[in-house]
Amino acid sequence: MREERLFRLGILGSGKGSNAAAIADACAAGAIPARVALVLSDVENAGILAQARERGVPSRFIPPGQFRTKLDEAAETAFLEALRQAEVDLVVLAGFMRILKGELLRAFAQKVVNIHPALLPAFPGLEAWKQALDYGAKMTGVTVHFVDQGIDTGPIIAQETVPVLPGDTPDSLHARIQEMERKVYPAVIGALARGRIRTQGRQTTWQPDPGKDT
Ligand code: GRF
Repeated sequence: MREERLFRLGILGSGKGSNAAAIADACAAGAIPARVALVLSDVENAGILAQARERGVPSRFIPPGQFRTKLDEAAETAFLEALRQAEVDLVVLAGFMRILKGELLRAFAQKVVNIHPALLPAFPGLEAWKQALDYGAKMTGVTVHFVDQGIDTGPIIAQETVPVLPGDTPDSLHARIQEMERKVYPAVIGALARGRIRTQGRQTTWQPDPGKDT
């Protein structure tokens, strides 16, 4: 009997890898009908690479080139080649600290997603939890969105709120947001792997889950 091909994820990250770990574990537990085919990082000693190694997931460091906030052309080509070779269906950004603008976005049009630690369009860019705290917001949250050429501007797939509590520090708020991220991101990726997300322009809609009666 022919085995059904599993949906394949390529995860890109620069940091500690808590989202990547949650996604890989949800795949291993069968909660996401997909496999993490590859983890790539632009940071040689990033925790995300260690998280991948611990779980037996193929991983690689690819040097980002000469710029600080984006990949240079050769580096973007190297990332793209690695993702193609691994036959990736969806590119998952999980704390990837470089802007993608060129070839990779064109090759994976509507197939790159990101998680942002705020309710977009509020607080785009860096340290969004600190921006929310400094602004005096009472509520912030997480946003999962498709990636376009802008910074945190692509069509929104899902959002969940997280309260800002009296006495919060940037670290305590960030930790509460990350706890929510570890629930929302696997749920969205599961829905994408099941083909449940439709997009028309900026509007995304969740189709009913064929596996459930509702
Ligand atoms: C997350 O908070 C995410 O929102 C942001 O970068 C962070 C990555 O954390 N884009 P981790 O590496 O997944 O632990």
